[in-house]
Amino acid sequence: MALPAADLNKKADNKTTMELGHVLPMTAEVKGDHLYIGGVDMVDLARERGTALYVMDEADMRHRMETYLTAFRSRYENSDVVFASKAFINKAAARIVAEEGLCLDVSGGGELAVARAVGFPMDKVFVHGNNKTPVELREAIEAGGGCIVIDSRIELDRVSKIAGELGVTQSIYMRITPGVEADTHEYIRTGCEDSKFGFTMREDWAFNCVKDVLAAPNVRLAGIHMHIGSQIFALHSFKEAIKVMVELMARIEAEYGYRIEELDVGGGLGVAYLAEDKPSTIEDFAEGVTSAVKEYCAEFDVKLPRLLTEPGRSLVANAGVTLYTVGILKTLPGIRKYVAVDGGMSDNIRTALYHAEYEPVIANKADQPRTEIVTLAGKHCESGDAVVVDMPIQHPDLGDIVCVFGTGAYCYTMSNNYNGQPRPAIVFVKDGEARVTTRRETYEDLMACDLD
Ligand code: LLP
Repeated sequence: MALPAADLNKKADNKTTMELGHVLPMTAEVKGDHLYIGGVDMVDLARERGTALYVMDEADMRHRMETYLTAFRSRYENSDVVFASKAFINKAAARIVAEEGLCLDVSGGGELAVARAVGFPMDKVFVHGNNKTPVELREAIEAGGGCIVIDSRIELDRVSKIAGELGVTQSIYMRITPGVEADTHEYIRTGCEDSKFGFTMREDWAFNCVKDVLAAPNVRLAGIHMHIGSQIFALHSFKEAIKVMVELMARIEAEYGYRIEELDVGGGLGVAYLAEDKPSTIEDFAEGVTSAVKEYCAEFDVKLPRLLTEPGRSLVANAGVTLYTVGILKTLPGIRKYVAVDGGMSDNIRTALYHAEYEPVIANKADQPRTEIVTLAGKHCESGDAVVVDMPIQHPDLGDIVCVFGTGAYCYTMSNNYNGQPRPAIVFVKDGEARVTTRRETYEDLMACDLD
């Protein structure tokens, strides 16, 4: 698919890097004409480690984790924050999540394997997925996965049977689809009625299934879960969905005489990808969620449950940047200016997939104003392969190091090897130190599974 026609009237914003505000990682600074993150010069780092390169600001990640925990616990003591590892995971990240005292959401066996590899406390792991395979379910139950979030009636039978075979009682949540339309891109909306996820509220399906869950052997219904979508700016959808959930808890108690002790309201808080974006803050989100839970628990006479939230993007997106080297310049007068970089839809598929937008700068000209509008094209055989479409940037020259902000979530975890592109390395930066936490893939890695 080709790119949409460029808006030729779009004007460059003349902003310098530090004027991009909350899009930047917490420790971003400009010294001389270079961009620094975590006290590390991004231009030197790119030249030493090669590009494309993912860089994570460790202090930023840790700070947001602490902010989430404090924001929730100060308002609602019996609460936990579950990091959604689908947003970003490698062993180093999983260790940080454990050190910061968060729980972990894993979606399937691969993410579970990372958690196990670093000795993540299994009682703090939540296992998700709309079609976890029987093998994945067995792995999770055997590993002592704290909680399996069952997504369907069919899965209930599988979990019950496997837990029985293993001689354990497995804690489970039921994922409910509350039927609320979140204000976000339709591809990442998940809580509305036409959804592959969870137990629908239509025709009382979810409520009726609770009866089967309570009757099933080898499982214990600990809580109910919702996740209404991702990159959500308007908090009212959370409130509406929480009302549906608490009302369901009240009905379960009234009609089945069973108290649901835990409520997981999912993730979904949006982040700033563009300097002008104004997402709700973590504090606003915590205030909105905790006050809604308290309000509806009072209204429906439900004892306050343990409260969980499951953020991914809002913990890591702005901590991450991707560095590239400019390889080709191509100006088509009256059409668009292309700047081709040494990555693209293999390391960031979000632009092609969702028309995602990002703010770019040139890391070796970080003090200069962004005077041109360019498209940062990737290197892949696909016309729609671009990382940034028609955005301001400093005047580009061959060999410049481009830094794209806000790529800490859903870029590495959605990366691929299209055109035989090895995945970039991941470097964590902190206090002037750069630590490679995932090495760059090699050509041998690309063929590692091929048999002769
Ligand atoms: N919990 C569950 C059950 C989820 O499915 C998700 C995300 C989260 C938590 C975390 O949501 P967050 O706080 O990150 O919004 N690939 C898309 C995003 C898909 C999100 C899927 N589920 C993107 O790149 O925008």
